[in-house]
Amino acid sequence: MLPAEIIRKKRDGSILSSGEIEEFIGGYVSGEIPDYQASALLMAIFFNGMTPEETAIMTRTMMNSGRTYDLSSDRPLIDKHSTGGVGDKVSLILAPLAAACGLGVPMVSGRGLGHTGGTLDKLESIPGFNVHLTPDEFKKQLTKLGVAMLGQSDDFVPADKKMYALRDVTGTVECIPLLCSSILSKKAASGARGVVMDVKCGSGAFMADIEGARALAHGLTATGKALDLPVRAVITDMSQPLGAAVGNANEVIESIDCLRGDGPADLREITLELTAEMLLLGELESDISTAKEKAAAALDDGKALDIFRKMIEWQGGDVSIVDNPQRLPCDYETVEFLSESDGYMNVTNCRDIGLAALALGAGRRKSSDSIDPAVGLTMLARAGDRISKGQPLVNIHHRAGNGIEECRSYLDSALTVSTDPPLLQRLIIEKIP
Ligand code: URA
Repeated sequence: MLPAEIIRKKRDGSILSSGEIEEFIGGYVSGEIPDYQASALLMAIFFNGMTPEETAIMTRTMMNSGRTYDLSSDRPLIDKHSTGGVGDKVSLILAPLAAACGLGVPMVSGRGLGHTGGTLDKLESIPGFNVHLTPDEFKKQLTKLGVAMLGQSDDFVPADKKMYALRDVTGTVECIPLLCSSILSKKAASGARGVVMDVKCGSGAFMADIEGARALAHGLTATGKALDLPVRAVITDMSQPLGAAVGNANEVIESIDCLRGDGPADLREITLELTAEMLLLGELESDISTAKEKAAAALDDGKALDIFRKMIEWQGGDVSIVDNPQRLPCDYETVEFLSESDGYMNVTNCRDIGLAALALGAGRRKSSDSIDPAVGLTMLARAGDRISKGQPLVNIHHRAGNGIEECRSYLDSALTVSTDPPLLQRLIIEKIP
């Protein structure tokens, strides 16, 4: 069928057949179908949606567009994915923690784009850390250590690589069938046999409201079911940053604190909850409280930190940063962002906190930009805290003043101190199914 006929069919709200989806995706990956036709189809999908069956076919076609891993392991292979947020460093703690609890974690991660940070950028702030593992290195490390954290190679789900870049510039990222197929094609291709999805909800997330987050969570679990890949979705709060650090190297330092059994309470709570869900999905535990206790013990007795050290060693990084975090890039200058009034702290727009860090150089405006691992923010107060006039709310870590005015203006719009305390959201909002 002509690509234009497939576009027309979806434009008019019809259901595409598996042959049409396969032909279109195959043609796009091979270069026969140009970006302008793929953009038109993405926009038609954005407006008219896809059935669960179409989404599953799309996901399977994307998964099979490149190399897939069929990893044999004694450990249940379970992964976690977050839909992205501000200060979300959970993967850095959870991946070694889940491995310490007996799971195998084949974690293929992405880079930060827009207001959200990326796990690969955070890992790469560790000097020498290599996220480009060969297939053999990946399999060996997963078998011997139980965890590998790496980036997407060119032959890994190439359909998603091309389509994600196109979605990013055509306003078609926030579309449930496209989000589901993008996320789950990569998880299925990496060899995971089950996925815990952290679906973020709030002003710092793709899905700002609970209805959107629920729809995405249901889409992910339904697509997983059609692919025979069990998916458990946990909707969690992203109306303020997770933990205090927003950036790259500073997020690694906060993750190490958490791996030592310390660190911010919200970061520990969410990490334990998601790790416990992974243990249930991998059938290593059958009860959430026991699973959480097991995960907490592995944080507190140093087992998870030990795996983190070994992972850095295996992947060529400087392991001395674990005991000497000042060896991470931290050659920044700091200024304070002060409250102009007395009252209660409120985060009115968490996305703007991510953009404030991006303005300093901690994130990218376009995918070819490089980031500065040292710069970022330290949040000194949380929503609901009592604040006095002149009290520092944020430490801004900048390099030679770069981006500081833009950063301050984003913080002005992100944070307010007012007389009424804000309504606070629960951290763990809902689980599906
Ligand atoms: N993360 C992904 O992997 N894909 C998306 O579409 C959005 C976030």
